[in-house]
Amino acid sequence: MSVHIRIERHGGPEVMQLAELSVPAPGPGEIRLRHEAIGLNFIDTYHRSGLYKIPLPSGLGSEAAGVVTAVGPGVKEFRVGERVAYAGGAPGSYCEERVIPAALAVKLPPGISSETAAALLLKGMTAYYLLHLTYPVRADTTLLVHAAAGGVGSVLVPWARHLGARVIGTAGGAEKCALARHYGCHDVIDYRAQDFVAETRRLTDGAGVDVVYDSVGRDTFLGSLDCLKRRGTMVSFGNASGKVPAFEPILLTEKGSLFFTRPKLGDYTATRPELEAAAQAVFDAVARGVIRVDLRHRYPLRDAARAHADLEARRTQGLCVLRP
Ligand SMILES: NC(=O)c1ccc[n+]([C@@H]2O[C@H](COP(=O)([O-])OP(=O)(O)OC[C@H]3O[C@@H](n4cnc5c(N)ncnc54)[C@H](OP(=O)(O)O)[C@@H]3O)[C@@H](O)[C@H]2O)c1
Repeated sequence: MSVHIRIERHGGPEVMQLAELSVPAPGPGEIRLRHEAIGLNFIDTYHRSGLYKIPLPSGLGSEAAGVVTAVGPGVKEFRVGERVAYAGGAPGSYCEERVIPAALAVKLPPGISSETAAALLLKGMTAYYLLHLTYPVRADTTLLVHAAAGGVGSVLVPWARHLGARVIGTAGGAEKCALARHYGCHDVIDYRAQDFVAETRRLTDGAGVDVVYDSVGRDTFLGSLDCLKRRGTMVSFGNASGKVPAFEPILLTEKGSLFFTRPKLGDYTATRPELEAAAQAVFDAVARGVIRVDLRHRYPLRDAARAHADLEARRTQGLCVLRP
């Protein structure tokens, strides 16, 4: 039997229920995993709240790392006892043990603990594709990243800095601003106290930035467009404050012939070579000291509802995991 967190309806953290379920043997192309650590991601709150609709009842959770306990027919890449991690697939990682498609899993190098992998893989691969594939950040790039003291921010900021870019971050409150600076931001704007558009313009001598990485969504969307240079790129990749409302394409013309994209990780890791390249880039970045694993919050799996409440109330910083 394995402890799982399940939801039968969408709602607040109170809809999360603990259940004891038996874990089936893996079918063709599947592996069974005993989780050692489970990643906590903002997307899990969208699945729970219904911002992203999922078929119900459902498990929750998008990533974890652990040990292979069984392999299904036809699986050649993995063996019982190997340590692996995964990010994505059907929600359900908030559990002790589960079956997943082998195609989702990546092997962990010896230097990467299960806890590091669970904390980092999803956010690390996100930072990787945002900085290298969505918009190729270079030494002459100036970028703005919102929620720079959060989970994705803790990875994206030092990685962008390593690429030589000028990094301006936003964060809510003095403590988070200090942390964003510690992650590598050249300049940090407390967007709860300051007008981040005016500050970004001031910091760039009126020019604006080449690219904005905006995971906050509704509250920052229009302001983010106003932080961009002519022909700059708006990367809207999250909805922490709610979904970005519909807009007319002419808005992008009026703001300076801007480029707009709304990417998701799954479209950058859809094939096995894409997934392996992204995971390898993250593991290499850890090994080379390019990114730091700033794990600040550990919750018992049974307290997943409290973890969600903290994440949504902006009480977390850096990376968070659940412990089965
Ligand atoms: N598209 C993709 O491929 C992809 C992949 C991974 C993550 N994401 C997105 O990236 C974002 C960050 O994910 P994460 O797991 O690392 O979370 P996180 O950044 O650790 O937490 C979210 C942060 O957003 C900020 N925020 C601003 N307004 C908020 C509001 N109204 N409610 C809650 N938080 C608010 C808070 O920081 P301050 O207190 O500093 O404002 C909060 O700590 C999420 O939007 C997530 O959906 C997207």
